[in-house]
Amino acid sequence: MSLNRRDLLAAALAAGAMGAAWPLMPGMGPKAAHAAAQALGASWDPAPFTLGVGSGDPLPTSVVLWTRLAPQPLADTQPLSDIVQVDWAVSTDPAMTAVVASGSVAASVLLGHSVHVPVHGLTPGQRYYYQFAALGQKSVVGRTKTAGVGALSQVRFATLNCQNYQSGEYSGMREIAADSSIDFVVHLGDYTYEHTELGTQYTLNDYRKAHALYKGDPLLRAAHAAHPWYLTWDDHEVVNDYSGSSADAPFMARRAAAYQAWYENQPLRIDGTDTALPDPQIYRYRQWGDLLELVVLDLRQYRSAQNLSDGTILGATQKQWLLDRIGGRSGGWHVWANSIMLGQLRSGPGGGYMFTDQWDGFLTERKDILTRAHAAGLSDFVTVTGDWHSAFVQDLRPDFDNTSSPVIGTEFVAHSITSSAYSSSWNAANGPKMGAGNPHLQYFEGNRYGYDLYHVTPQRFTAHMRVTADRADPSAAMSTVSTWHVDRGRAGAYEDPATKSLPAQYRRNP
Ligand SMILES: [Fe+2]
Repeated sequence: MSLNRRDLLAAALAAGAMGAAWPLMPGMGPKAAHAAAQALGASWDPAPFTLGVGSGDPLPTSVVLWTRLAPQPLADTQPLSDIVQVDWAVSTDPAMTAVVASGSVAASVLLGHSVHVPVHGLTPGQRYYYQFAALGQKSVVGRTKTAGVGALSQVRFATLNCQNYQSGEYSGMREIAADSSIDFVVHLGDYTYEHTELGTQYTLNDYRKAHALYKGDPLLRAAHAAHPWYLTWDDHEVVNDYSGSSADAPFMARRAAAYQAWYENQPLRIDGTDTALPDPQIYRYRQWGDLLELVVLDLRQYRSAQNLSDGTILGATQKQWLLDRIGGRSGGWHVWANSIMLGQLRSGPGGGYMFTDQWDGFLTERKDILTRAHAAGLSDFVTVTGDWHSAFVQDLRPDFDNTSSPVIGTEFVAHSITSSAYSSSWNAANGPKMGAGNPHLQYFEGNRYGYDLYHVTPQRFTAHMRVTADRADPSAAMSTVSTWHVDRGRAGAYEDPATKSLPAQYRRNP
């Protein structure tokens, strides 16, 4: 039997005297933290590129390359000069012999010795390889891809969300890293978690070390090195269920620290002075040819409190921007990277909303957006969603309480990669209740862990829910627990007959 990281943490807590159990405990020195992290299975690449490499935010002719120098990943300060020169190169071959772009950038102590290189002048829809060099050392070679243009026959992408480190192993990322048919990865948030039984993150150094611990997982590093990522965030990158900026100064300082550490550790494209830290604009719009447009939402930074008649989850500026995007859409599949559930979720027939931290806490705005989207003729609309640690497939309607309100799209809510879901007994009891209380809900499965793999063609949008055989085992086999399709021009998803016999706690059409 394999022990997961949570079991190890619990065992250390039970032992009491083992104060050095959790590598992010306040006041722990780098050496003890390193040993504690190794006890949880962490390992890093050779210094100074311990945290690996990544690429992100592909455009047709540009991609952002990322690395962060951290010779002592869990130390408060790095044994580096304030500015370190980092050389980079992009090649069309993995041996890095056919270099098409190269340069040097400064890694500054002010941004944790991270670098974000926007490489321009690349060819659309092409694979590239890249590598960094600094202090006489070379990084591993990463692989990336630019966005395609024109009439594309297919796009394949994976979504990830909710990867609590101590809750399990990243076997899904192992599969993503090995799948060379994937064009890009979308991360829907809860990349790090701010809290364990043994400590909570508050300062820039706290959050930096959390990111460094997570990137001590070789499978996470491999998934970054294998594909370009588009990322958004949810709450746990800062703190559970936080809302916007309407809080006191200590919270704003904490949020700024968390946002900065997140930026430092991700392949993010943030351009322009008006989008800079500590409150970067991360909502954005990206396109893969005529086939797919990706609307990346930020549902945390600008939100008001929940359950207000004039509340907002988007903020006024992002809301107008989203309506403009819908109005100016390309005509391909219109996809939202949506960190938290969009559809309505009542606990049962006539029951209340289960969680108002999700879009259910912002009813007026949701209804307004979906009503105006429908009026604008939005079709072929799919939302890929995280947060819930369980899988849902549901129809999207402007008015969820009115079954004659038209279906205008589909929401796929993915399993978490590791973060704990409800118990199997809770899922068994509540799956049928949720189905009965939510006529738009097609499917619910809460007992598994994994990621969603999407295959998009001009005719069809397909979601494969990939799940691990054992959350505690990084080498565990992955399999498909359910496959769903949406046909172009016809709103509403249907399950592939091949998976209808596999276990789930609710199916509207068994
Ligand atoms: Fe989560």
